[in-house]
Amino acid sequence: MKLTQEQLDQFDRDGYLFFPSLFSPEETNGLREEVPRIYSQDRIENIREKGKDSVRVNFAAHLYSEPFARLGRHPRMVEPVKQVFDEDVYMHQFKINGKAAFDGDIWQWHQDYGTWLNDDKMPEARSMNIAIFLDDVNEFNGPLMFIPGSHKNGALEASHDVSTTSYPLWSISNDNIRKLVDQGGIVAPKGPAGSMIMFHGCLVHASGSNLSPWDRVAVYLSLCAVSNHIRRFKRPGYIAHRDFTPIECLPDDCLINPYPVDLPWKDGTPAIEKQGLQEAA
Ligand code: SIN
Ligand code: MN
Repeated sequence: MKLTQEQLDQFDRDGYLFFPSLFSPEETNGLREEVPRIYSQDRIENIREKGKDSVRVNFAAHLYSEPFARLGRHPRMVEPVKQVFDEDVYMHQFKINGKAAFDGDIWQWHQDYGTWLNDDKMPEARSMNIAIFLDDVNEFNGPLMFIPGSHKNGALEASHDVSTTSYPLWSISNDNIRKLVDQGGIVAPKGPAGSMIMFHGCLVHASGSNLSPWDRVAVYLSLCAVSNHIRRFKRPGYIAHRDFTPIECLPDDCLINPYPVDLPWKDGTPAIEKQGLQEAA
């Protein structure tokens, strides 16, 4: 999939592109059906909502689940990112966010590059976020909200919030959010399962809680330009990957046909990947 000049201009202006129904129901069904099996496993990669059993975020499923290993190499997702960066990319982070019906908690206003810079020492914001909806997203089940154009400000001041939710985040102050929203407003792309969003690492985003009876499972992948790999391994390897091998795409029908994939963490997470390290290897 190649982006048109108009799409490239739109991405530069707004900081995101929305592709409704990019993947068919046949392609997303196999992914969605795999999620309960992953969430029910007793693995370190499953982080639950504060005081609840519902999974907030699962990490690195592309290393131990076949359908997600194939998604991680899907050309419809990888090729546009390579086009924008004009370089090969590796998987910096792979998440399946639950945002479960009734239980799904907020994600505070933040930029992902804030974390990549402050925790991982990623040199530049040359890592792209991709969101792929596995459930329909509507105005009630906690859609992702963006401040269009906010990526133009680069890395903003952020503070490390370790208490609001079960997952620590470098979040942006309410005063700064007010100013940014005065300029750019807020949008919340909504659409059927199989829709994809591509968004800039500096785009300010958040989501509210899910009080609806509908789950809002979405996969978030961060694809980093290989030369821009992280320089610090403070976070565990299952959260911020340390393997900078360029992603090799599978054929476009890889979510329908069972192309063979490696699953290196199928029998468990290597001990070294469970901890932060003082020095990058
Ligand atoms: C994120 O910002 O990483 C996740 C936001 C969400 O799932 O709503
Ligand atoms: Mn984020």
